[in-house]
Amino acid sequence: MLTAEELRVLDINSTWHGVGVEELMENAGKAVADVLCERIPVDGKRVLVLCGPGNNGGDGLVAARYLAESGAEVSVLLVDEPKSSAAKLNLKRLRRKGVKVRRRTGSLNAEIIVDALLGTGIRGEVREPYRSLIEKVNRSSAFKVSVDVPSGLSDAGTGYCVDADLVVSLHAPKPGLERFSTIVVDIGIPEKASLYVGPGDVVVRLPHRHREAHKGDFGRVLVVGGSESYHGAPVLSALAALRSGADLVYLLVPEANFDVTRAFSPELIVRKYPGGHLSPEALPEARELLEKTDCMLIGPGLGLEEDTVLAVAELLRCSPVPCVVDADALKALCGKLPVGGVELVLTPHAGEFQLLTGESPGRTLEDRAEAAKRWSHHLKGVLLLKGSVDIIASPEGEARFNETGNPGMTAGGTGDVLAGVVAGFVAQGVAPFHAACCAAFVNGYAGDMLLEEKGYFFTALELAETIPLAIKDIFERFG
Ligand SMILES: NC(=O)c1ccc[n+]([C@@H]2O[C@H](COP(=O)([O-])OP(=O)(O)OC[C@H]3O[C@@H](n4cnc5c(N)ncnc54)[C@H](OP(=O)(O)O)[C@@H]3O)[C@@H](O)[C@H]2O)c1
Repeated sequence: MLTAEELRVLDINSTWHGVGVEELMENAGKAVADVLCERIPVDGKRVLVLCGPGNNGGDGLVAARYLAESGAEVSVLLVDEPKSSAAKLNLKRLRRKGVKVRRRTGSLNAEIIVDALLGTGIRGEVREPYRSLIEKVNRSSAFKVSVDVPSGLSDAGTGYCVDADLVVSLHAPKPGLERFSTIVVDIGIPEKASLYVGPGDVVVRLPHRHREAHKGDFGRVLVVGGSESYHGAPVLSALAALRSGADLVYLLVPEANFDVTRAFSPELIVRKYPGGHLSPEALPEARELLEKTDCMLIGPGLGLEEDTVLAVAELLRCSPVPCVVDADALKALCGKLPVGGVELVLTPHAGEFQLLTGESPGRTLEDRAEAAKRWSHHLKGVLLLKGSVDIIASPEGEARFNETGNPGMTAGGTGDVLAGVVAGFVAQGVAPFHAACCAAFVNGYAGDMLLEEKGYFFTALELAETIPLAIKDIFERFG
C-alpha cells in the first residue's frame, strides 16, 4: 500500500533512473486499455473517457488512444486543460488520431465510462465542477473503470468518489481500494526507484519554506565534539548542519578548543566546559543547551578518554531530542546500546559497524543490508552504514541504498559533514530514517558536483560549502 507522498517520491526517482513521466503515462494508459479490453470486448462500444488536468487525466488520454485503436467508439470529456507537458503531448496525439474531445459536460451517454478525473493528486474535498460530474457518473448505468483510484478518493482512503465497477491501480494499491474490485498493473517504475534513495526523497521529505517562516522554524542543532587532539571535526559537522538548512547551531567543546573553534566562524554559537576532552563536567551545560535544541549530534573528534565514554552514554540517556551518533561516540557506545527512549541515527563506516556490533557487515550489498536491518532493530536506532554504496536501515525493517558520491570523498572530514547534514535535516523535523536517506543522497550529490568542478581533489570544507548548491540543484531539476 502506497500513499500519494510515497508515489511522488517514486515518480521522481523513476525519472532519475531514466524512466520519465511520459513513458510511465504511456504504460499506464495502455495498461488501463488492456485490462478493460480483457474484461469487456470494446469493439463498437461507446466509451467515454473523463479526463482531469493532472497526470491522472494524462493516463486517461493515453487509454482513450489505445481504446480507439481497439475499435471502440471513443469520446473524451476534458474538464480542464492538461497541465503537464506529457499530458499536453498526449492530447495532441489523440486529436491527431481524430478522437472527439469536448470541453462541455453535457450528457454522459456511454456504455463504458473511463474515469481519469482525479488521481492521487487530490487535496481536500472535491471541488466543482468535479463533484457534480462524479454524481452524474454515479447515476449512470455505464460500466465504470477508474484509473489508479476512483476520482474523489482521498489519500486517507475516504471521501465522496466515483462508485467504480473496476479500478486499474498503477504500480501499487492505494488506501481505500479494499472495497473496490481492483487490478494492480505494472507501469514500468524501475525497482531502483524504490530501493535506492533519489531526488524524489529530497524534494518530498525536506520542508518547504513559507513566506511567514521565522527564526527557529527550521530547527536548532547541538554538536558535541572535539578534544585537545581534534578541533576541526565538530566545526565541519556544525557548518554542514547550517548549510543543510538548520537555523541555529550550538557547538559544545572543551575549554582547550574554545578560542580556535570560536574564531572559525561568526555563524557558530560556541559553548565550553572545563578541560581538554568531554567528561561528566560537561553535563550541566549540555543539558541546558539540549533544552533549546531539536537534535544533538555527538561524536566528531571526541577522543576516547575513560570519562568521555561515560559522558557520551549519560548524554544520550538524558537527551530529550533525537541524537545523531558518529565517530568516537559510536566507539564509546560499544556494548552500551540500546540506550532507552531516545531516537537515534547511528552513522558508522564498516570498521565502526564491526566495533559496535562485533560483526563484519559482509561483502555483498544484500549481506550488508541484512546486517544493517538486523542491527538497526537490535540497537533501536536508524543505521546509516557508510560505503561506496551507503545502506540506510530502520528498526522497523526498512532498508534503502544510496549510490551518490565518489572516491574524492575519501578525504578526511567528509563523514563529519554527512553527520552534520543528517542532524540538520532531523532538526528541521524530517523523520530520522528519511533524514538519513536524504542526507546520504545530498552529501554524495554535492561530492559529485565537486568532482565535476575540481576532479577528485576536494576537501571536506568544500563539501560542506557545496551542500546548499546540491539541494538547490535537486529542487530546481526535480521539485
Ligand atoms: N508519471 C506518470 O504518468 C504517473 C505515474 C504514477 C501515477 N500517475 C498518475 O498521475 C496521478 C497523479 O497525478 P497528479 O499528481 O498530476 O494529480 P491528479 O490526481 O491528476 O490531480 C491533480 C489535479 O487535481 C486538482 N485537484 C486537486 N485537489 C482537488 C480537489 N479537491 N477538487 C478538484 N480538483 C482538485 C489539481 O488542481 P489544483 O492544483 O488547482 O488544486 C490538479 O489539477 C496518479 O493518480 C496516476 O493516475 C502518473
